[in-house]
This record gives sequence, structure tokens and C-alpha cells, in this order.
Amino acid sequence: MKTSFTIISVLLIPTLALLSLSSVAASPVPEQHLQEARAVVKSFSGQLKGALKPAMKSGGPVSAIQVCKHQAGPIADNVSAQSDWQVSRTSLKVRNEGNQADEWELLVLQKFEQRKSAGEDVNAIEYAELIVSDGKSVYRYMKAIPTADLCLKCHGDSLDSAVSASLKTLYPNDQAVGFNSGDIRGAFSLKRSF
Ligand code: HEC
Repeated sequence: MKTSFTIISVLLIPTLALLSLSSVAASPVPEQHLQEARAVVKSFSGQLKGALKPAMKSGGPVSAIQVCKHQAGPIADNVSAQSDWQVSRTSLKVRNEGNQADEWELLVLQKFEQRKSAGEDVNAIEYAELIVSDGKSVYRYMKAIPTADLCLKCHGDSLDSAVSASLKTLYPNDQAVGFNSGDIRGAFSLKRSF
């Protein structure tokens, strides 16, 4: 009994590991990097929310816009400096043009929309791939960012007029409005070279 259980475990565990990876990536990616990327996203996301939420509470959305404008970049830089990853955010509809998706990110974001339409939970949508760029291996990872109710104050379709005016001044080419709760607002995007 014990022996057969061991044999099953030996066969089953690697199979399960492969299955769980294949749902994330087209080509197999090292499991350790995937775990690390997820942890970095958690830290990045936690710090962004940690800056946004109290700012919304104490000063309301118009003043919190300044927090997003002035802190999102430095938080990303800090998380990047403290890890081996280059960390950013992107979207199919960006507010800050500096967050425009590159070719690879664009394809992944489009796939994320298809996966959401097919019924996948936005909270769980991620993708990882080991690519070769300029002869170097680059591990790339993206995780969808769901739109929560809190986000609608600045990314929804009926913005307060003061919020709207401030955003128009700061971001004349803002595309990041008109979202509904549960939509994919964008994605965290990480890369690491080897
Ligand atoms: C107080 C207004 C405000 C709220 C609330 C807000 N955002 Fe933003 N968001 C901004 C601003 C301003 C930027 C541009 C930041 C910059 O200049 O880098 C931005 C940028 C982003 C970006 C980067 C891509 C882009 O469009 O440039 C993402 C992703 C994003 N927000 C997601 C969210 C999510 C998810 C929430 C809710 C949890 C949220 N935001 C809540 C104001 C807000």
C-alpha cells in the first residue's frame, strides 16, 4: 500500500507541476522564477495600495491623483532596486504615456481580455514566458490588475468634475477612463535578464 502510494506520488507530483505551469506559459518556465515574480507583484501592489488608500481617505480623489502621479514611479523603482526584477505597469488604455505597452505586452494584454471573456477569473490571470532578446534570456511575467470600486473614482465612466478637470490638465491624452468594476484595468509587468 505504502509503496504504491509512493509510486503514485512520484508520478503525480511532477505531472501536476507541469500541468499548472502549462496553464501559465507556452514554453516551460522555471517554477522558482514564477514564485519570485508573484511575490514581487504582491509587494509592488501592496505598496501602491498602501499609498493610495490613505490618500483617498484623507484628501479625496483630487489630491490622491497627485499620489498616483508622484509615487507610482518611485515605488516601481524601489521595488525594482530591491529585487532582480524590472517592474512596471501597463494597459491597453494608458493614462501616463510612459506606461505604453511594448509589442510583447500588447499581445499578452489582448490575450488577457480573451481569457476574461472566456470566463477566467481576472484575479487569477497571469502569463509567464522565457524569451530570447538580443541573444540573452529574458524572463517576462505579467499579471492582470482588476478594476475595483475604489478605482472608479479616477478610472470609471462618471467622474466627479473636479477629478475630470485635474486629470485633463495632468494627462491631456488620458485613455484610462470608462472602466467598470471587474474589468481588467491593466497589468503588472516584470522582466529579468539572465
Ligand atoms: C485618485 C485617482 C486614482 C485612483 C483612485 C486610482 N488611480 Fe490608477 N492612476 C491614476 C493616475 C493619476 C495614474 C497615472 C500615474 C502616473 O502618472 O504614473 C494612474 C495609473 C494607473 C495605472 C498605470 C497604467 C496607466 O494607465 O498609466 C494602472 C494600472 C492603474 N492606475 C490602476 C488602478 C487601479 C487598479 C486602481 C484601483 C485599485 C486605481 N488605479 C485607482 C489615478 C488613480
